[in-house]
Amino acid sequence: MKTQKVVTLTQFISEQQSLFPDSSGDLTRIFMDIILAAKIVNRDVRKAGLVDILGTHGTTNIQGEEVKKLDVLANEEFMSALSLGGDCCAILSEENDDVVHVQNHINNKPKYIVAMDPLDGSSNIDVNASIGTIFSIFRRRSMAWNPVTMEDCLQKGINQIAAGYIIYGSSTMLVYTTGQGVNGFTLDSSIGEFCLSHPDIKIPKDGKIFSVNEGNYAEFPKGVQQYVDYCKESDTATSRPYSARYIGSLIADFHRNLLKGGIFIYPPTAKAPSGKLRLMYECNPMAFIMEQAGGKASTGDRRILEVIPEKLHQRVPLFIGSENMVKLAESMYKSGLSQELNG
Ligand code: F6P
Repeated sequence: MKTQKVVTLTQFISEQQSLFPDSSGDLTRIFMDIILAAKIVNRDVRKAGLVDILGTHGTTNIQGEEVKKLDVLANEEFMSALSLGGDCCAILSEENDDVVHVQNHINNKPKYIVAMDPLDGSSNIDVNASIGTIFSIFRRRSMAWNPVTMEDCLQKGINQIAAGYIIYGSSTMLVYTTGQGVNGFTLDSSIGEFCLSHPDIKIPKDGKIFSVNEGNYAEFPKGVQQYVDYCKESDTATSRPYSARYIGSLIADFHRNLLKGGIFIYPPTAKAPSGKLRLMYECNPMAFIMEQAGGKASTGDRRILEVIPEKLHQRVPLFIGSENMVKLAESMYKSGLSQELNG
């Protein structure tokens, strides 16, 4: 019988760590905590329709117990794994207004900060569509024995040490980068391990998919309207019209475009002038992954990874995907802005 060579995520990460003999192992252990929480959340997501976790947070079930929304549960799982693991000093979560300082008794000089969206696309939970977890890891700037400061937390995306996401879809996958390419691992539930299934992911330079919430078209800036119109025009040479694909779950839309080529846009709108997506735990990690896969990520007028964060839950517009598509969307957006300025 032929045996298939399986590389687990744990083996892969340990091998990567061995390339840096001076590394403390803290980052590897943070990954182990994330993997553990991801497996628990995966179990909860798979049971979502069977147990009372689809309900609204704050209500009680028939036994009088509190019903927890899946995003609250996911937050608790990641918080608890990372805090008990004790290798990061602070966690910034979409679910918490402020930074959570990890009271650490295991590692006495933790240097990493984790920013995360424990369950992104949560409006899709009730309808069985793909959802996910996004994480970003960076190093604090101040000395390890001092309290973590706001400057430690508000760092540009280019300072990320690692970023990744877990997609709970038709299978569960973890995709991550530490700045040396992007690799994807699929959870084999029969052995409870994430196994390397998508080595060295690269996004095509051009794609045939555009993902945008077109319901907001009337509120888009002129240049974005022009780009959406361009995607829908007929032109054999450029294989247009492109296919419109929008799930409304960033990770699911991003993951499809990453593998097949395409563009995802969440532009500024009249209602949301800074866009909707959050810089620290949605746009930055996705931009790091996208650039490492050979794609591009922009606010429309500058590289996402260069944005200087001002607030923990800051929003920014996002244009992300195949390089040539993002370049064109960016240039139409910019010329639309100057047309609007010049009346
Ligand atoms: O930020 C949360 C989120 O659900 C993303 O996952 C998704 O891309 C976006 O919002 C969808 O927003 P809208 O419903 O406005 O298109």
